[in-house]
Amino acid sequence: MTQPLKVMTVFGTRPDTVKMAPVVHALTAARPSIQPLICVTAQHREMLDDLLELFEIVPDDDLDIMTADQTLTEVTTRVLIGMERVLTARQPDVVLVHGDTTTSSAAALAAFYRQIPVAHVEAGLRTATRWEPFPEEMNRRLTGRLASFHFAPTARARANLERENVAGADIFVTGNTVIDAFVETARRAELIGDAPEPAWHGLDSGRPWIFVTAHRRENHEAMPEICRALAEIAGLPQRPQILWPVHPSPRVAPIAHRILDGIAGVSLVAPLSYSATVRSIARCRLVLTDSGGLQEEAPCLGKPVLVMRRETERPEGIEAGTLKLVGSDRTAIVAQTGLLLEDEVAYARMARAHNPYGDGLASGRIVGWLLARLRGGPLPEEFRAAA
Ligand code: UD1
Repeated sequence: MTQPLKVMTVFGTRPDTVKMAPVVHALTAARPSIQPLICVTAQHREMLDDLLELFEIVPDDDLDIMTADQTLTEVTTRVLIGMERVLTARQPDVVLVHGDTTTSSAAALAAFYRQIPVAHVEAGLRTATRWEPFPEEMNRRLTGRLASFHFAPTARARANLERENVAGADIFVTGNTVIDAFVETARRAELIGDAPEPAWHGLDSGRPWIFVTAHRRENHEAMPEICRALAEIAGLPQRPQILWPVHPSPRVAPIAHRILDGIAGVSLVAPLSYSATVRSIARCRLVLTDSGGLQEEAPCLGKPVLVMRRETERPEGIEAGTLKLVGSDRTAIVAQTGLLLEDEVAYARMARAHNPYGDGLASGRIVGWLLARLRGGPLPEEFRAAA
């Protein structure tokens, strides 16, 4: 009998855990053809642990690297050293990393040093500048150079890789696994549809509310400006309410609390569980964020997303009309939010529930492709058609 394919998934922050969870589930379902190995870096600690519990994932290895106010160099070196030990002990046939975190680029480099092929999930996203988002844009470019196989979420991501001379045969368009996670979570909790309206963090269900997240390094300096914009929004005539689950980073949380604590209509809460996040998106009027994942998730539920960044690596959402870039300028944030609160036509234009990022079946495609490719078999018909 052929030996099972040893596939190690590596992740460690909130977004890559959400997006890798359905892949882990699909790999587990493919036993005994596959032997799944799970390594978490714990670049995030509490936010990771909540998700492991929600998705019922038990890691085989936990590098436990997080420290307070960690630098990128500290994260990178700890992942490199920890991964060398784990890779030597486990000897996987292939290592799967995700997206653009420092966990991913460092784990990919460690695998490359051990000459173990790397497969990159959510490959090929690009902005026009290496500095934005920082350091994620460079993380994903580096991971792309180190990877042997590329699972691109969209045709555009595939084209980006081809422009960088990645061989077409090594790229496979799967859709984004975040949609798999989102759909699974929403279905499990029966959140979409006629869910009841409990009081949410003291929010009044009769008034519109806005779901906010902000944490990016390139926004750290602008954090006071963003907070002042939120204070102003809370004073708009529609009396919108704001729910902001604040990232625990010392560069974010203290500023948010200093400026916004005590302002009527603004609820700053600790990071929400993933299912509460999905629920919040389902109930809000619009999303104001600098996150990448929310740009993919909110359109699933037809919620407009104002992106507090100057660039996005997700232009498909801009074209589809569900995303709009507003940067971190207070006036622009307030004006665009005000428009979506008062102008039903402008709102409806953005709220069309069209999602260019996937159909919820990406993880199965990834596993099928890995088995076909690394076990030497022909690509199944479905994959030939989709590739
Ligand atoms: C990282 C990712 C970013 C992703 C984000 C989601 C990189 C370079 N960036 O950025 O792409 O959008 O995760 O959150 O990989 N902290 C805690 N508890 C936690 C998590 C974080 O206290 O559960 C603190 C840490 O001490 C750390 C700070 O938050 O000092 C920032 O975390 P870090 O992983 O360095 O960067 P993020 O901004 O979270």
